[in-house]
Amino acid sequence: MSRILLTGGAGYIGSHTYLRLVEAGHQVVILDNFMNARDDVPERLERISGHPVTVYRGDVRDRVLLDRVFAEQAIDGVVHFAALKAVGESVQKPLDYIHTNVGGLLTLMAAMEAADVRRIVFSSSATVYGDTDIQPIPEDHPRTYASPYAYTKITGETALEQVAAADSRWAVGILRYFNPVGAHRSALIGEDPGDIPNNLMPYIAKVATGELPKISVFGDDYDTSDGTGVRDYIHVEDLAQGHVLSLNALIETGQSHAVNLGTGTGSTVLEVIRAYSAACGRDLPYDIVDRRPGDVAVLTARPDKARDLIGFEARRTLDDMCRSSWAWVSGQIANS
Ligand SMILES: NC(=O)c1ccc[n+]([C@@H]2O[C@H](COP(=O)([O-])OP(=O)(O)OC[C@H]3O[C@@H](n4cnc5c(N)ncnc54)[C@H](O)[C@@H]3O)[C@@H](O)[C@H]2O)c1
Repeated sequence: MSRILLTGGAGYIGSHTYLRLVEAGHQVVILDNFMNARDDVPERLERISGHPVTVYRGDVRDRVLLDRVFAEQAIDGVVHFAALKAVGESVQKPLDYIHTNVGGLLTLMAAMEAADVRRIVFSSSATVYGDTDIQPIPEDHPRTYASPYAYTKITGETALEQVAAADSRWAVGILRYFNPVGAHRSALIGEDPGDIPNNLMPYIAKVATGELPKISVFGDDYDTSDGTGVRDYIHVEDLAQGHVLSLNALIETGQSHAVNLGTGTGSTVLEVIRAYSAACGRDLPYDIVDRRPGDVAVLTARPDKARDLIGFEARRTLDDMCRSSWAWVSGQIANS
């Protein structure tokens, strides 16, 4: 049993990881400023886990707060989720993204060093590979950035690698997520996107609830099985398990790793629409429209390194992802 600090632990992936860590027997402390989390997440985590939740409300860039957390909590390791995550918004507000994502990580690492804590799992993203024709993508693919968001993730990874290379007491787990979707089996926590989501599954969910009229499918003339784009969707509960395995590997071996978290197979847009239609019980309307500039046909993870280094394998299917998403969003509507 270890005591783990989760920055951004009230957010979408952080809250699911909280529950997996508690199930795995860890004690978990959340630090979150709630800028993108609902106030009732800690209460819901308490209901699901049956244990009181320890939360520090504040900013990961606040060094005084971080020093207090480390002084009060005897932390063994950190999982760092707290960040801004919208690629499009990062183009409008690069400084906010660099300040939060890079500044936040550097402040956290300095506080960890001062507190003698040197185990960290970092939320990275497949976006560090840029747009590439090499599929499935291996971890040694060159990193390149097409947005300020991607820049912040590459910079974060590089800072962690440099520190770990210079000081063997540091062990860092870099996890590159592909497309996290779905919700917790309790249907009490899930993704809470803004008004018009940028990503496919939350968009489909809003069509399923009637908040949006129809889905736009951007292009059906790609070189894929049905002509629509293929992405590697991973259930958020599988992703959460990836963090437990990464953390355990860091604690047990002291060896750093950088791995993809995806299924390795991928689904087309039309397959996702069909699976979601089955989950919600009606055929969801869609239009085929022009391709979006910058979209590539296929983006999938090569998953073997995560299996070999940390024992990770995604188990849940596309149907599981759609059913859990629908249970979460339809439950929200029923309770509102
Ligand atoms: N969701 C995805 O598709 C995806 C894909 C790849 C990588 N990631 C990365 O995973 C991490 C978690 O993503 P998510 O989808 O759960 O996002 P999220 O917005 O739901 O969670 C982030 C959490 O961090 C908190 N936060 C933001 N800025 C903060 C700050 N300065 N101080 C303290 N707390 C702060 C937010 O309130 C939120 O609870 C992020 O680092 C994101 O870049 C997400």
